[in-house]
Amino acid sequence: MLSVSSARLHARIAALARFGALPGGGVTRSCWSPAHEEARGWLLGEIKSAGLTPWVDPAGNVFGGLGLDRFDGATPAVLTGSHIDTVPEGGTLDGALGVLAGLECLQTIHEAGAAPRRPLAVAAWSDEEGRYGSLFGSRAFCGRLDAAAIPAMAAVDGERLVDVMTRAGFDPLRAPEARAPAGAVDAYVELHIEQGPRLEEAGIPIGIVDAIVGIHRARVVFAGQADHAGTTPMERRRDAFLGAADYALKARELVVARGGPRVVTNVGVVQVHPGVSNIVPGRAELVHEMRDPDAAVLERLAGECAALARDVATARGLAVEVRPMSATMPAPCAPRVQTAIEAACAALGLAWRRLYSAAGHDAQNLAAITDAGMLFVPSRGGRSHRVDEASDAEAIERGANTLLHTLLRLAA
Ligand code: GLV
Ligand code: MN
Ligand code: MN
Repeated sequence: MLSVSSARLHARIAALARFGALPGGGVTRSCWSPAHEEARGWLLGEIKSAGLTPWVDPAGNVFGGLGLDRFDGATPAVLTGSHIDTVPEGGTLDGALGVLAGLECLQTIHEAGAAPRRPLAVAAWSDEEGRYGSLFGSRAFCGRLDAAAIPAMAAVDGERLVDVMTRAGFDPLRAPEARAPAGAVDAYVELHIEQGPRLEEAGIPIGIVDAIVGIHRARVVFAGQADHAGTTPMERRRDAFLGAADYALKARELVVARGGPRVVTNVGVVQVHPGVSNIVPGRAELVHEMRDPDAAVLERLAGECAALARDVATARGLAVEVRPMSATMPAPCAPRVQTAIEAACAALGLAWRRLYSAAGHDAQNLAAITDAGMLFVPSRGGRSHRVDEASDAEAIERGANTLLHTLLRLAA
């Protein structure tokens, strides 16, 4: 039975990990950064040396085609891929695995002289991690990128998308032109590390994803009164940070109590203005994120949290504004893709279980234009979005071979 070169795959994972490598391990490689653009150049070289056709679209998505040099709608392709950008202080596998295993599968198919009925392609989607805009590249490819929103897109530190894309040699306003023609993609399947503990704890090598969570994000801005931190009597202070802190604690309780067993919530961004120790904070902003596989649960919780923010502000003599930032819809995975992964597992003698993805992925955009699905391999200790993210070499090899045989089935 055809199988990938595990040595070549691991060599490429190690090579990609050098771009943006941190001294203590792990990687910071946000999209459009110099490290990311160097990695893009390296990836294009690898695609070419693997015997595939490389190209880059106006949203910065990188592709390698086998029997394909552009998406045209006349020859529907089977597509795989993931992303090569990382979160700050992230690991070496989140995204990288899906891109490099996809490349390895296509190279294996090419070198074996196998001639699948459909053309194949591997993608590295831009800014999956959303420094400027969550799932940016796959949104553009799937026709879900609002052109009017591009000029305002910026990172939390204020760095603007238009500036970094221009620096990287792209025209940001042309990104929506990356939209694929109707019928261009026959199916999409993405291999990813699980990023959580479920597969490892169950001792199961392959997870077949049946749905991807929705993610709701809102910026909550409390406004109080800046004052001298030494001379202002305590009872006269209107400290905006205390509103943010109170909200963060109460929102967590509310979401966990009212959201059901699968909901998760996080406050990962807090900004205090003007941000010096001798001024009572006049303004405090936080970004509140919630995830659940059920869109109705998220919508209800978003309303309840907005009411909570108003109650907290009133009780503390503050003003508050809740600005919805993004709401990605939960996405079901296509039964046809799940069945193909199951058949690949059966052929390889691998146990599998179904699970939903608690992380967001480009596959949720692809699900809007084609049959899309995902498979997971176990993450050591369930750790991800941290520098010691890891999966066992054998787990990676099993995942790559399962992807290979899934692609062969989908393209047959
Ligand atoms: C993507 O990495 C996410 O935040 O789920
Ligand atoms: Mn990630
Ligand atoms: Mn990822």
